[in-house]
Amino acid sequence: MTEINGTLLAQEIKKEIAEEVLKITNEGKRPPHLAAVLIGEDPASQVYVRNKVKSCEEVGFQSTLIRRDAAISEEELLGIVDDLNRNSEIDGFIVQLPLPRHINEDRVTLAIKPEKDVDGFHPVNFGRMAQGLPCYLPATPCGIIEMMKRYNISAEGKEVVVIGRSNIVGTPIALLLSQKSNPGNGTVTICHSRTQNLREHTLKADILIAAIGRANFVTADMVKEGVVVIDVGINRVDAPETKRGYKLAGDVDFAGVAPKASFITPVPGGVGPMTVVSLLLNTLKANRKEIYP
Ligand code: GUN
Repeated sequence: MTEINGTLLAQEIKKEIAEEVLKITNEGKRPPHLAAVLIGEDPASQVYVRNKVKSCEEVGFQSTLIRRDAAISEEELLGIVDDLNRNSEIDGFIVQLPLPRHINEDRVTLAIKPEKDVDGFHPVNFGRMAQGLPCYLPATPCGIIEMMKRYNISAEGKEVVVIGRSNIVGTPIALLLSQKSNPGNGTVTICHSRTQNLREHTLKADILIAAIGRANFVTADMVKEGVVVIDVGINRVDAPETKRGYKLAGDVDFAGVAPKASFITPVPGGVGPMTVVSLLLNTLKANRKEIYP
């Protein structure tokens, strides 16, 4: 069994990005610039955004954090998006989700110019992805693909089972791994909350991707020997013995499943660190105008 080290891989890729940034600045150009919009005080969102800004600094990107109170109106937020769309000093930006309930997330996502949508959430980028055209991939699928490439995990001819059908993880990773690409060419099944006999499906999986959002949902009796397990879950579970009072758990019961797996990602330290790297890779592409010349 190989435990995939997402933390180490992310460090390696950040080093590569930092070298690319040096090349850009040595040519006398400005470094890539990412802006993040954070609305309100959601604790998890604050941690994620802080992490994104910190990662920008590590690789030599410029970053701008725009923070506003949760009471901001939708019109005001759309005004900020419009300014960022027009600002030629900013290569790409993200609006951290979830947004306060009075704001329509779809309206905000649609207002972001696809050229600057480094989250890959805009339907133009999703559509381009679905057709195998150059696009910004959403962070989690992009991180999984990069991880598979670097660990030489091929999906070709394999049974791939994805649990979860969200627009930002389950559906895109299922599409990508079924496409004629590397790592693709898999035979992909998407399972979800209405799937009957889930275990019958997961037992067939050569590659199992868990993106359900329920701690320790996938247990040893649901997988076969030699399975590759990619755990996308980040769930908080009570842990009174810890300082924070909680710890992070994936969607997979790691202790039970790992002995049967050929490769498995831990939580934390698996897919998570790779998602921030994906955002950096997209911002680098935006700076070079690689996707939209
Ligand atoms: N909330 C949770 N994950 C993400 C992400 O990747 N991007 C944005 N904008 N919000 C999120």
